[in-house]
Amino acid sequence: MWFIYGPPTPNPFGRDQEINTLVKFMKNGQPVSLIGPRRIGKTSILLASLNRSSLPYVLISIEEFIRGEKGFNFAEFISAYISNITTITYSFAGYKFQFLEKTKSYLKQIRELIGAIKITLNLPELTTLIDVVLDKAQKGKNLSEEFSKALDLPQILAEKFGIERIVIALDEFQYLKLAKQTSPEIFHIMRSKWQFHKNVTYIISGSATGMLREIINTKDQPFYQFFYLMRVNPFDEEKSKEFLKRGFEVEKVNVSDKEVEDIVSYVDGFPAWLNLVGIKVVVERKPISVILNSLPYDDNVVNAIEGDLRKLSPSARSVLRKLANLGGKGRPKDLGDNIWAVNRALTQLMRYGYVEKEERGVYRILDPMIVHYLANR
Ligand SMILES: Nc1ncnc2c1ncn2[C@@H]1O[C@H](COP(=O)(O)OP(=O)(O)OP(=O)(O)O)[C@@H](O)[C@H]1O
Ligand SMILES: [Mg+2]
Repeated sequence: MWFIYGPPTPNPFGRDQEINTLVKFMKNGQPVSLIGPRRIGKTSILLASLNRSSLPYVLISIEEFIRGEKGFNFAEFISAYISNITTITYSFAGYKFQFLEKTKSYLKQIRELIGAIKITLNLPELTTLIDVVLDKAQKGKNLSEEFSKALDLPQILAEKFGIERIVIALDEFQYLKLAKQTSPEIFHIMRSKWQFHKNVTYIISGSATGMLREIINTKDQPFYQFFYLMRVNPFDEEKSKEFLKRGFEVEKVNVSDKEVEDIVSYVDGFPAWLNLVGIKVVVERKPISVILNSLPYDDNVVNAIEGDLRKLSPSARSVLRKLANLGGKGRPKDLGDNIWAVNRALTQLMRYGYVEKEERGVYRILDPMIVHYLANR
């Protein structure tokens, strides 16, 4: 099937330029930050580039370690880091690990791992580290010091096994901010280590564009001017049309050029929505106008957008709704009487990547589906 909705694709359409650039950076050790709003295709570009680079890599999504509102499971994150890096570098060196328990718990994974490491190639740095992590995690002690050591593992193991280059990719990187409660200096520590790892390329990405920019683009922040910023944009009009036309051809459905244009002007070049409309056209075989009008009520759209909006404060939501009712663009004075509250709401919307400030004080909602969704309710 041409159209797929939901999971990232390792074969993204029309992203060759981005992928070629990213592969080059990966091979050359240039740290990169991929920035773009939700569902624009960041993870897909990342996956495709990692695959095409043929380099050994570790890909971890920081989102996986969030617990509840503001919690972060630091022990699990460190264990995942150690477990993934060890497994990848050891397998490069010809050792294969089979985990007995297919478990999501990374603490359990490193516990299993340690036995295997001790009988293959005993690396005291690694086994001691795992021992201490297991011990401290069990006692609920602070793991900042071990984290600092775990950060050096990729470089140590790369040297040990003669790996010229390994890529560490951390998706949804901005959520590491939540780990500051446990380890306030986390970003300082990371930067101070990473800058000396000559065999490791670091790639981060995230959808909370404002938050990510704060981390990497603010003068007094440790990651200031460390990453090359790569912005992931929506498809342009031509590419969006081509994507749909090729898909409808493959699926053997007749859709006129005018209808393809209608779809693109409704969802813009957001790959996730182009895929969703594509699927609905193929499956439902209804007129395009009917499909587009029903889109804000589609279960997939409702789930996706409600899930996103839940993270926002009530006042940020209300400002977002007002912006939507203005067609997706507006100035603060049109968004509420209390200008201070409006500005605070806009700040949150920018941090989470929903809104961008354009010229002359105009704010714009990036994802057209959010506009349709909110303006229809
Ligand atoms: N270039 C593309 N061609 C075809 N489909 C794509 C492309 N880019 C993304 N998609 C599809 O759009 C959806 C979102 O892509 P992806 O998960 O890569 O985006 P993301 O920016 O990482 O999103 P999130 O912020 O939710 O993590 C997926 O279903 C994916 O398959
Ligand atoms: Mg993603």
